[in-house]
Amino acid sequence: MNMEKTMSKIKNGAFLSVRSRTKVNTMTIGWGYMGIMWNKPYFMVLVRPHRYTNELLENGEDFTVSIPFGSNLNKELGICGTKSGIDIDKSEIVEFVPSKLTKSPVIKGCDMYYECKIRFKQLMNGEEFPEDVKSANYPQKDYHYMYFGEIIECYSNDGK
Ligand SMILES: Cc1cc2nc3c(=O)[nH]c(=O)nc-3n(C[C@H](O)[C@H](O)[C@H](O)COP(=O)(O)O)c2cc1C
Repeated sequence: MNMEKTMSKIKNGAFLSVRSRTKVNTMTIGWGYMGIMWNKPYFMVLVRPHRYTNELLENGEDFTVSIPFGSNLNKELGICGTKSGIDIDKSEIVEFVPSKLTKSPVIKGCDMYYECKIRFKQLMNGEEFPEDVKSANYPQKDYHYMYFGEIIECYSNDGK
């Protein structure tokens, strides 16, 4: 599953993509967790409530994480990490390609792909965070939603 490489690369930026009914969107993420829960592999992504992606996740059933290992998609990561799908159509920025199992697509040109079924979500109880974490990350108190996705498929760009 290439967990170590994924975790070392995600802080440089990855694409979190979701389709909900007819709408599709992607946004850049820099945080995430992979691990084992309920005896299954899980990818947990953190999304602030006002993101357009959050609106789609709330109504969707799955998401994908597409990770570039190099710098080939840096420009796209920059745009998808600063512009909202409310204002722009991100299919004009990146190329969505069909996934193997999820309704949510993946992003062309990445090196590692995870297809995840949403099994649980939880809003962070931020009031209990340490004060330094709150002041550094949540001056607006916009605590993240955590989406726990069971990894139902993962592969590298050469299909392995
Ligand atoms: C490197 C990088 C990492 C980011 N990581 C996250 C993240 O983990 N969670 C989050 O909610 N927003 C994160 N963002 C911000 C969103 O990508 C950004 O607000 C985006 O425009 C949201 O798009 P949307 O409104 O179409 O969902 C990150 C931005 C950058 C540039």
